[in-house]
Amino acid sequence: MKKGLFITFEGGDGSGKTTQINLLKDYLKSKNIEAITVREPGGVSISEKIRCLILDNQNTDMDKITEMLLYAAARAQLVSQVILPALNQGRAVICDRFVDSSYVYQGFARGLGIDVVQNVNNIATQKLVPDITFFMDIDPTTAMNRRLNCGNPDRLESEGVSFQEKVYEGYIELSKMFPNRIKTINASLGIEEIFSDIKKHTDILLKTFEI
Ligand code: TMP
Repeated sequence: MKKGLFITFEGGDGSGKTTQINLLKDYLKSKNIEAITVREPGGVSISEKIRCLILDNQNTDMDKITEMLLYAAARAQLVSQVILPALNQGRAVICDRFVDSSYVYQGFARGLGIDVVQNVNNIATQKLVPDITFFMDIDPTTAMNRRLNCGNPDRLESEGVSFQEKVYEGYIELSKMFPNRIKTINASLGIEEIFSDIKKHTDILLKTFEI
């Protein structure tokens, strides 16, 4: 039975998740909670190999079902190898993206539908659901420009702004579907202001957890 604390970060490409994940990890440490941080797709050797395959710019002909299954395969390995064992030991795990990314990118933006993505991912995640999810809410064009200033785009980022706009719409829909779990964070503010919002939600959550 899961005992630990499972926190996920979501948002479009360039929405500033990494900075906030590092701040949250340090904050939890200051409260004597050692958190493991992982990213999706990836986080363990097999899943990092799958990541390379998915994000490779040369794979322009990848079918959207293949893409969804590869994300799910990478997730299944990460969940069984790292996330569930850590949670079962009562530890905290912060994950950069989780199944919500598949709902939004594959289910919504690629048009596969939430139900198909959910059925496949129920197997991949063993029905694990985050305790809290931070959706980094920022205008997709601003986020994309920010991301493109930091290096070459991968295959998903190369889809362009109209794809990122669909992704953004998908996150808005998803946050309406799961209002208790998904906390919308204004990610266009400064780093400290964004973090103070995240900290506020985390403090509330910590009161309900023995970790
Ligand atoms: P990253 O750039 O945040 O590391 O994520 C890699 C890309 O993969 C990003 O464009 C989002 C996309 N993605 C999906 O399309 N579906 C998923 O399930 C996940 C985890 C990521």
